[in-house]
Amino acid sequence: MALDEAKLTEFVHKALADIGGALTAGLVVLGDKLGLYKALGAHGPLSSVELAQRTGTAERYVREWLAAQAAAGYIEYDAATGRYHLNPEQVEALTNEDSPACVLGGFQGMLAALRAEPKIAEGFRSGRGVGWHEHDPALFEGTRRFFHPGYAANLVSKWLPALEGVVAKLEAGARVADVGCGHGASTMLMARAFPRSEFVGYDYHAPSIERARELAAAAGPGRVRFEVAAAKTYPGTGFDLVTFFDCLHDMGDPVGAATHVRESLAPDGTWMIVEPFAHDRVEDNLTPLGRIFYGASTFVCTPASLSQEVGLALGAQAGEARLREVVLQGGFHRFRRATETPFNIILEARP
Ligand SMILES: C[S@@+](CC[C@H](N)C(=O)[O-])C[C@H]1O[C@@H](n2cnc3c(N)ncnc32)[C@H](O)[C@@H]1O
Repeated sequence: MALDEAKLTEFVHKALADIGGALTAGLVVLGDKLGLYKALGAHGPLSSVELAQRTGTAERYVREWLAAQAAAGYIEYDAATGRYHLNPEQVEALTNEDSPACVLGGFQGMLAALRAEPKIAEGFRSGRGVGWHEHDPALFEGTRRFFHPGYAANLVSKWLPALEGVVAKLEAGARVADVGCGHGASTMLMARAFPRSEFVGYDYHAPSIERARELAAAAGPGRVRFEVAAAKTYPGTGFDLVTFFDCLHDMGDPVGAATHVRESLAPDGTWMIVEPFAHDRVEDNLTPLGRIFYGASTFVCTPASLSQEVGLALGAQAGEARLREVVLQGGFHRFRRATETPFNIILEARP
């Protein structure tokens, strides 16, 4: 086939935009870590000298960062004054941690994931996995920061009410296990909303459980605790609700996990599974969002699953049909999509 010069130019332009995007990941993490966005948001318009003074940073670095961020469309530049500022949308996405529009955690987590590239390349050659715990710790923090605003906006107000009879049980006083809880963002949101219920967050990753305990202590008293335990062996039975937030596909043996969940549930209990939004067929996931999920899945989710027993490696874009198979193989009889957002599917399984 003859090479089409116009198409080649178009492709190279697209790739150049992606190279700029890769650098933006590092630039955003710097702006976040060094307080550059917060200072610009609170005190802008600022010159590089003023921003450096306010943040205790070196002006020459700040000057270059400002120009790079203005070229990327992450901050605004006024040529007449030589000063930079954030517009209201940039303030929201780059300084408001509680906003579902906040992108800081996403960049923090994904830049951390990229640091594992040498280990992942080795995994491609050997077929061996790379565990969640083998990543740069910024991945764990970034994941919490990325997911928390979405959970805060949806979990209590939309996702739990979409499950059959669960909110009534939680209001009356139920026992809940949040498995693969990471830093416990979802566990704490539920515990705060339903003070009569008792919540335990489990994760196999001890440093995440330690961090969840610190965050829970800072948030004040509540009927919530965190324990190190894996999805197939966590203790306790008779749970009214077991939740899995964005972690089933990270597990080596999701069928084994499903079986254990069923055994740990009360006879009329519910298993809530939150997974990244995905269609069943690859061709339907070739979207901007699918690009992020498949990319994260190559660096984090698939290697994580391959590092554990069985290594089923569902991937972050498994789709509902594949997840249904896993859940039914675990001995559940009822399964349905309870609801969805542009980013998540919320599945309900009952024994
Ligand atoms: C993408 S993170 C999601 C964390 C948290 N649920 C959230 O939504 O913020 C996946 C989590 O699954 C945990 N995990 C992976 N395999 C596990 C297993 N077999 N048992 C328990 N936790 C596991 C990891 O340690 C990690 O905290």
